[in-house]
Amino acid sequence: MRVVRTIDALQEAKKNLSGSIGFVPTMGALHKGHLSLIQQAKKENECVIVSIFVNPTQFLEGEDLESYPRKEEADIKICELAGVDVLFMPNVDQIYEKDELSMGAPAIRGYILEGEKRPGHFDGMLQVVMKLLNLSGAQKAYFGKKDAQQLALVTQMAKTYFMEVQIVPCDIIRDENGLALSSRNVYLNDEEKYRALSLSKSLKRATKYIMSGELDTEVIKSEMLEVLKEADMVEYVAIVDREFNNLKKIEIGNTILLVAARVGKPRLIDNLWI
Ligand code: PAF
Repeated sequence: MRVVRTIDALQEAKKNLSGSIGFVPTMGALHKGHLSLIQQAKKENECVIVSIFVNPTQFLEGEDLESYPRKEEADIKICELAGVDVLFMPNVDQIYEKDELSMGAPAIRGYILEGEKRPGHFDGMLQVVMKLLNLSGAQKAYFGKKDAQQLALVTQMAKTYFMEVQIVPCDIIRDENGLALSSRNVYLNDEEKYRALSLSKSLKRATKYIMSGELDTEVIKSEMLEVLKEADMVEYVAIVDREFNNLKKIEIGNTILLVAARVGKPRLIDNLWI
């Protein structure tokens, strides 16, 4: 595996790759969720490039940019063992110019739910993903469904800008108790970890209701909120179609149930695709 930190070194390393490239963009502190993206990329491509870059433009004022978990050594080992060909770990100067062009998330889909709670987050996320996708030269790029809105916006960006890369959605990976894996889970102590399960439990409760024939989204949301009383603060519970329009009735095969809540320090998100 080549570990490269500059754009020149990345371009040089790419010359030694042959065949299709799968790309996995990350912010590091890799866990089994990232590993599953890398494994899927390995299955579907001849070569895999992973990037680790804690992107400042997608953090809002007062968010955890400085304290975001950084585990460079462990991450390099994980990528090596996973059979990654090139690990790209640039610093901010490699990625950004002083007087940048800006990317704008769409006015509606980019500013509801996560975009409403974190205004500007998706502008910065799209800006860096566009750069990283172009730099990787990948045919396929892998994104987790846990960040459902991010996945939808990246897919839209690829379509809007006629990019040739295929965006591949990957399943959410959970721990043995059902907690969706996230680099920010390291902020949780044991008691908070237990209460953080209320997110996945609320989705389980919703599934139970839907399977018994309840399709009214208001009823389902209020059942989810009951379970979410264990969280410190619920930021939203939403039931949308795959285009992120609010739904009155569950549409099997076209629905995403989303939840965001604070438990202890971190805000956590989870979702279920029905
Ligand atoms: O999901 C993430 O880790 C980040 O938003 C991404 C896609 C690597 C862009 O910084």
